[in-house]
Order: sequence, then structure tokens, then C-alpha cells
Amino acid sequence: MRPFDGRRVLLVVSGGIAAYKSVILLRALRAAGAEVEVLMTSAAERFVGPVTFEALSGRPVHTDLWTNPLAHIELGRKCDLAIVAPATADLLSAMAHGRADDLASATLLAAGCPVLACPAMNVRMWENPATCRNIALLTGDGIRLVGPAHGELAEGETGIGRMAEPEEIMVEAGRVLETDSVLTGRKVVVTAGPTREAIDPVRFIGNRSSGRMGFELAASAWRRGAEVVCIHGPVSVPPPHGPRTVEVEDAVSMLNALRDELEGTSVLCMAAAVSDFQVEQPSDEKIKKDELRGGSLALELASGPDLLLETAEQRAAAGVFTLGFALETTDGVSNATAKLERKSMNLVALNQAGAQDAGFEVETNRITLIDPSGAVEELPLLSKREVADRLLDRIEDRLRDGD
Ligand code: CTP
Repeated sequence: MRPFDGRRVLLVVSGGIAAYKSVILLRALRAAGAEVEVLMTSAAERFVGPVTFEALSGRPVHTDLWTNPLAHIELGRKCDLAIVAPATADLLSAMAHGRADDLASATLLAAGCPVLACPAMNVRMWENPATCRNIALLTGDGIRLVGPAHGELAEGETGIGRMAEPEEIMVEAGRVLETDSVLTGRKVVVTAGPTREAIDPVRFIGNRSSGRMGFELAASAWRRGAEVVCIHGPVSVPPPHGPRTVEVEDAVSMLNALRDELEGTSVLCMAAAVSDFQVEQPSDEKIKKDELRGGSLALELASGPDLLLETAEQRAAAGVFTLGFALETTDGVSNATAKLERKSMNLVALNQAGAQDAGFEVETNRITLIDPSGAVEELPLLSKREVADRLLDRIEDRLRDGD
């Protein structure tokens, strides 16, 4: 699986209770196609036996500096990435100060590859000024950190100090290993989810968008090494790890957030289901039942801003490649093509409203892609993650062609 296939990863496990999560991380790395060498500190061996790592990596585990006096040089030289998980306060201190008195610290000192450290410790150890100094030194030296997260800690305390979850570490490892994507280092803005237009302080007009499609696009761009900003409306699914998120409520606030972000943007993915209407005069106070005179209440609606139309000039000036969506019930391809032109998109993803297993509130989607040359590509029914990957693959092809 790109970008792990055939890549060599050194997994350095130091002595913390989170060492059991590194077993899961090792499985994920292997399943993604990476070749993994595992190195354990003697403290790590007190938490998980080397046999477990040996069986899952299919290789002997390295534990001692003197078994092969050159191992610390060879291991670091052979690898594309070193992951330190868990990274204890002690090992981080050794790394920050260039110590080399055991196999882990010596190998990391000799390693020429990028290093991803996943700290795990008690919250007071993490917040201690000595650890803060070490972390500042390490990040200054180019060591990348994943976590630690906030949550329940081993001793029944709660705070920052939990090792990041293997899934999150995989994403960050993928970002470091990614070398083929034209999106690496570029800014990608994604809009996701519905907008809510207020009727009164407690009621709103909304829609069924879950935000999943946009979040998968943001996650896919993040995995490719892009700098991702995800502007989203009110949703109940969690936003992806990594991308910066900007939460908005209505179409006008989404438009303002989008305008603020367009500077320096290479790609915009407009996956949000932006409301086309807004209430002409939202009430400042809760509308009481008594106001439904004769059993009905008329709401005057006005059209809201169309974000793609409103930003067309700014996008053209900044050279933003724009992917839009089109939700259609009839004449899908011709309506979507008309939208692509009218709204200055570079690519449009057509969703047929009412199609089974596709669209709002489900995990899968069926998309037809149309580009300005009139080329039409029908994608099969796929998970939204797979759809997002395909869409970004097409965007990358177009960017490579100079769009
Ligand atoms: N969009 C937008 N601003 C809006 C409504 C939609 O920028 N107020 C964007 C959507 O994010 C999507 C594209 O425009 O990428 C098309 O959205 P869609 O709802 O299919 O079309 P509409 O423009 O709303 O047209 P219609 O309702 O007539 O089909």
C-alpha cells in the first residue's frame, strides 16, 4: 500500500505501558507492506516480550549494543524512517542530548533517516520543564512528534501523556514516507458538512450532509503530505486527525472562512452542502407556539451566497484548482457539466440523488467525474475513503499536466 510498500521502517520501542500499542502499530506497518526492524530497550522488554515483536516482524529483535557492535550503524543506515513508540521521557532526553549508551539511543544518533517520536508518559513528567526543554531541542533538530494525547493514564490519572493511537501514527508515518505526491507541501482547502441557517435562536434550516465525504478528502490530502484546512459546518462525525479545522455555522460564515483561506491555496475541494436559502428575517427570540396563528407560520426565504460563484475571481487570481460536487436528480451529466462551467470548477463529481448506498448519511458513494474537456468517468460504488483517494489521484494527474 502506497507509500509503505517495500519501505524500511525501524521501530524503536522503549519502556512504557504503551508498548502494547506498538505491537498493533507493527501489525499495521506490516499489513501496509513495510519491512520493519524492531529494536527494544531493556526497559521495554519488561512490558512486552521480544518474541511477540519477532513473530510479527518476521525478524530477530535487536536489544543489545554489544551482540553486534556495528548494529547501531547498520540499522539506522538501512531505514527510510525510524518510529520511536513509545518514546519515554528517558529516551527523549537521551536523544535530545546526543547520548549513545544503549542500542536505541546509539542507533537513533547514527540514523540518517527522518525520526517520528511518539511520547508516552505521566502528565507531570510531560509537563516538567526538563521534558519541555528536551522536546524543544528535539523539534528544533527536526524530530517529528505524534501526540501525546489527552486521556486516561496508566496510574488512574487523566491528562496529556497517552501515546498516540497506532492509526494516527500510521498517518503521520505515511506523510513522512510520501514522496510521489504533487500535493506534498501544497495547501489544500476542503469544505465539508452542512450549513445551518437560523430561524430563531434554537431552530435552523439544515440538510442531511454528514461531512464524511469532505473529511475523507481532507484526510486523503493530509496523507499525501499537503497542508490541509478543513472548513466544516455542524457535524457529528469526528474531523480527521491532522488537518487544521475551522468550524462554521451558516453559509455566510463559511464564505468568510473560505475567503480568508484562499490565499496560497493550490486545491479547493468544495464538498460542503451549502444551504441555498437563508431566512429573510431570523427572529432574535424563540418563536412561540402562539405565533402559529391559524395553525401555520410562513417563513420568508432569501437566497444565500453561492460560495463557488462568489469566489470565482479570487480563485482564478490565485490559480486554485477547484473540485466541486453536483447533486442531481435528473439529466446528471448535462446538469453537472453546466454547473462546472457556470461555477468555474476544474473538475466536478456528480452524485445522483436517490442512488442507493450513495450520497448523504451513508459510508459509500457512487460518483461520476466530469472534466472541462467533456471526459466522463464513472467510478464504481466505493467507500467514501476510496472515492476521496480516486478524486485526489485525478486532481494530481491534472496538476502534473500543468493545470
Ligand atoms: N455550492 C456553493 N454554494 C452554495 C451551494 C453549493 O458553493 N450556496 C457548491 C457545492 O459545495 C458544490 C457545488 O456548489 O460543490 C454544487 O452544489 P449543488 O448543491 O449540486 O448545486 P447548486 O449550485 O446548489 O444548484 P442546484 O441546487 O440548482 O442544483
